[in-house]
Amino acid sequence: MNETIKVIKNRRSIRKYKAEQINAAELQEILDCAILAPNAMNQQKWLFTVIQSKAVLDRMVEIIKENIFNAGNDFMKERASSPDYHTFYNAPTVILISAVEKAPWIQVDCGLAAENITLAAEAQNIGSCVIASSRMLFASEKGNAMRKELGMPEGYNHVCAIALGYKDENPETPARNKEVFNYVK
Ligand SMILES: Cc1cc2nc3c(=O)[nH]c(=O)nc-3n(C[C@H](O)[C@H](O)[C@H](O)COP(=O)(O)O)c2cc1C
Repeated sequence: MNETIKVIKNRRSIRKYKAEQINAAELQEILDCAILAPNAMNQQKWLFTVIQSKAVLDRMVEIIKENIFNAGNDFMKERASSPDYHTFYNAPTVILISAVEKAPWIQVDCGLAAENITLAAEAQNIGSCVIASSRMLFASEKGNAMRKELGMPEGYNHVCAIALGYKDENPETPARNKEVFNYVK
């Protein structure tokens, strides 16, 4: 099978990571691939914050949990009540993607960058998981107070996060609905 197609088919969301930090050169490859994603008009109105401090990540998770209990839906509340809940699954590296709020097509741009990140990770046998519940960090003043520490300038909003680390599980492919194709010939 073609190597690129193999990587796309093998990538899974990983929710169990080894504690060991990922190799710096491999991380650099991932970041190089992130900014090579197609993006509308090559506007590049995105920002990637690489977080490798366990203390910072754990502090973010504490605030996220607090915000989920205050404002989250029941499903999220139940998940966050679990004693081993950690928004980023204790991954040693998290990339926070933020972007200029008003840039056209920015959600598509960031989604494509996120996919490049997950595929570049998989190509190097690094596990990843796209995480949107990280948005709950910014649901309170306490969370928004972290923007400066996270290097998010004025006018930038959080889009999603990606957990990265060496895999400590090998999950099955979640089922896909194949009845989603139309052909017009
Ligand atoms: C926009 C987006 C948000 C997601 N948010 C979360 C999340 O908050 N927590 C989580 O564990 N997985 C999250 N995921 C991962 C999906 O659950 C996962 O991609 C899906 O179940 C398919 O599984 P696969 O990635 O292994 O193919 C998210 C994925 C996307 C694309």
